[in-house]
Amino acid sequence: MKDSLGCIEWIKGMMNVIHEMFFQKYDARHLHNPMQLPSLHNLTFIVTGSTSGIGLQTARQLAESGAHVVMAVRNTKAAHELIQKWQTESPSEGLPLNIEVMEIDLLSLDSVARFADLYNARSEPLYALINNAGICSIGVPQKFSKDGHEVHMQVNHLAPALLAVLLLPSLIRGSPSRIVNVNSVVHSLGFVDPEDMSFVKGNKKFTSFVGYSSSKLAQVMFSGILQKRLPAECGISVVCVSPGIVKTNVVRDLPKIVQAAHAWTPYIYLSPQEGSRSSLFAATDPQVPEYCESLKADERSACAFFSQDCRPSNPAKEAWNTETSRRVWEKTFELVGLPVDAVNNLVRGKEVKCSFGDQYR
Ligand SMILES: NC(=O)c1ccc[n+]([C@@H]2O[C@H](COP(=O)([O-])OP(=O)(O)OC[C@H]3O[C@@H](n4cnc5c(N)ncnc54)[C@H](OP(=O)(O)O)[C@@H]3O)[C@@H](O)[C@H]2O)c1
Repeated sequence: MKDSLGCIEWIKGMMNVIHEMFFQKYDARHLHNPMQLPSLHNLTFIVTGSTSGIGLQTARQLAESGAHVVMAVRNTKAAHELIQKWQTESPSEGLPLNIEVMEIDLLSLDSVARFADLYNARSEPLYALINNAGICSIGVPQKFSKDGHEVHMQVNHLAPALLAVLLLPSLIRGSPSRIVNVNSVVHSLGFVDPEDMSFVKGNKKFTSFVGYSSSKLAQVMFSGILQKRLPAECGISVVCVSPGIVKTNVVRDLPKIVQAAHAWTPYIYLSPQEGSRSSLFAATDPQVPEYCESLKADERSACAFFSQDCRPSNPAKEAWNTETSRRVWEKTFELVGLPVDAVNNLVRGKEVKCSFGDQYR
């Protein structure tokens, strides 16, 4: 019975993915491209993975609207080259764009913690963290980070979760503020066993697609609980978005034949600029905090989720499973080396110790 229910949910998830693939342009026909943003002067946004694809467009458009943007990237040289290019091309009335580069490698939890330490040490307000960086290594054999986690789970869920929690002091300073997670409609095909988030026990056969979709589901589950655990006074909204199916470098690990199809399907795929609209909407639209608050009032609700057309939508049924979500929440803290009461302590202004192996900070 449980299996057949799981099968029905999987079919529903697959229909969502197929719908997004073929109707995303139609569904988003009401949106401008590029998205029209309000003036964002004096607001700081951190955008991870902003050297390519959706993150690159997100960072550029925020900066062109006057925001202070921190490009949180692993390839700092590429980020500096982009800034130089944007400074000369930007239409922002001769004013230099307010962008800087900070190094982060999501494959290293230590690098994430160092990034957060450096940023928090500024004691400056942070208006939004956009957890955009991600990998989708379809067809590639199972790989593990040096922290010992399956790489999709680490880059797409564990490291962004650690970053969001450690940056809470800066987000509280910037309140009302936001955490935006660039997720995927594919989360609805995911499966998370909180006791085996890296798929090593063999209960579920690992494929890279399972790794990708499950990391995205884990992120939705974690985000739903994070939103509920943050007291309303913190004024932090937590949102997941689907960018759509977008032509970016994310396909670089796909088989050649799929990459060729990707290249020949401009009528189906969104451009990176179109794909950045849901992130930009979630990070800047004035109605988003109110929507998040309305969900928070319901104990059983899942995380706020916006589709590529910037409309609220329901995440997958599994994301509403409060028991599994709570276990994913607790396991995530254990795997990133944080005490499970870290959020509680950080919102009260207390220090939190973070341990990876034998390192403490
Ligand atoms: N494209 C789609 O159809 C689609 C659909 C659903 C969801 N998404 C999500 O959208 C987000 C952005 O992806 P994209 O399509 O724009 O792909 P992309 O062009 O490949 O960009 C991904 C970015 O993430 C960065 N990144 C990867 N691993 C990292 C690490 N270990 N540490 C720091 N940064 C890292 C990459 O940096 P490098 O350039 O240095 O590798 C790059 O800047 C991802 O979360 C992805 O899952 C994309």
